[in-house]
Amino acid sequence: MEPTALERSQVTPPCADELAGRFPLTPNPHPASEERYRRIMTDLRFGVDFTDHLVHAHWSAGEGWSGRETRAYGPISLSPAATIFHYGQECFEGIKAYRHDDGSIWTFRPQFNEARFAQSARRMCLPELEPGDFVAALVDLVRADAKWVPTDPGSSLYLRPFMIGTEPHLGVHPAAEVDFYCIASPSGAYFSSGFEPVSIGLVRDYHRAGPGGTGAAKTGGNYAASLLPQKLAAEEGYAQVCFLDVTGRYLEELGGMNLFVVGEDNTVLTPDVSGGTVLEGGTRSSILTLLADRGYDVRTSDIALDDLLDGIASGRYTEMFACGTAAVVTPIGCLGVDGQRIEIPTGEVTRGVYDELTGIQLGRVEDRYGWTYKICDGENDR
Ligand code: COI
Repeated sequence: MEPTALERSQVTPPCADELAGRFPLTPNPHPASEERYRRIMTDLRFGVDFTDHLVHAHWSAGEGWSGRETRAYGPISLSPAATIFHYGQECFEGIKAYRHDDGSIWTFRPQFNEARFAQSARRMCLPELEPGDFVAALVDLVRADAKWVPTDPGSSLYLRPFMIGTEPHLGVHPAAEVDFYCIASPSGAYFSSGFEPVSIGLVRDYHRAGPGGTGAAKTGGNYAASLLPQKLAAEEGYAQVCFLDVTGRYLEELGGMNLFVVGEDNTVLTPDVSGGTVLEGGTRSSILTLLADRGYDVRTSDIALDDLLDGIASGRYTEMFACGTAAVVTPIGCLGVDGQRIEIPTGEVTRGVYDELTGIQLGRVEDRYGWTYKICDGENDR
């Protein structure tokens, strides 16, 4: 399969020792107490608790990037007129740090997230980071907070780099002051049911993105747009929503993750991203490679809802799954369409992809692709 423009723009990062220290550490004078640390690490939830530090840098139109630092995690002070509050000028990423069985700490395809962060920044009229700074931020934060990288099955340190327009100005124009942060959250599974199948409600009345919009950027507005349909779907018992394109005919993506459909004839389909309305996921990209290498006929194409429903009814389509950094690989066990609940079995393709991908991320399956990136040895950090 031909690499996408985003995949072609990835740059292999230097090793972590070369990047470490770009965001110099001032240790948090009031880190979490031992009791709080133990409580958080023994009951891991997704994205609720945060580590002792954050990474920060400031950008101004006149001076570029400056003030790189790793410092105590805590509230940030902004002008109420900052552009982020009024016009949503921001972009973000989601990436994880994993602890391997020998205690060392690794991340997964950081160059993909780095390239996507730059792509999102360009779309949102935000500055790009200087080369290497994205991965350096991850390295410095994870090294400062290494003890927060959990070991429980299905757990990880979820890293959230983000950039916000902070210029105090109510005119609608790109901010001349911008701040970059990275925070970290020791996390369990995104769906509390773990690998168990989730139910997805199809949305007809709302769209996540349209042609020429910001659908291909990882920016808060896309997620804000998904909140109401997500809330309505949750009231009907669905864990996530599935959006259609603006014609109402083709599947695009879920509220915060990509989707795959498995056919009985060795085919695997996922919506094409070239139209700019679907966020191109790193997990999606990895799964396409893994399945193609396993001999599946992998296609990125339009998936028509009518064809999907016919195919599920006739057995032509046998599995569906959601994927993303947070969701990893989660079987879709039920699709709610126009008040009908259509059951979908969980099959061996979904399980196999989950096992191989998480095996690579955790260092238990050989990484033939150079996807894993070592952050540190992780010795004596707990
Ligand atoms: C991720 O998968 O990392 C995301 O940013 C999606 C969000 C729903 C948590």
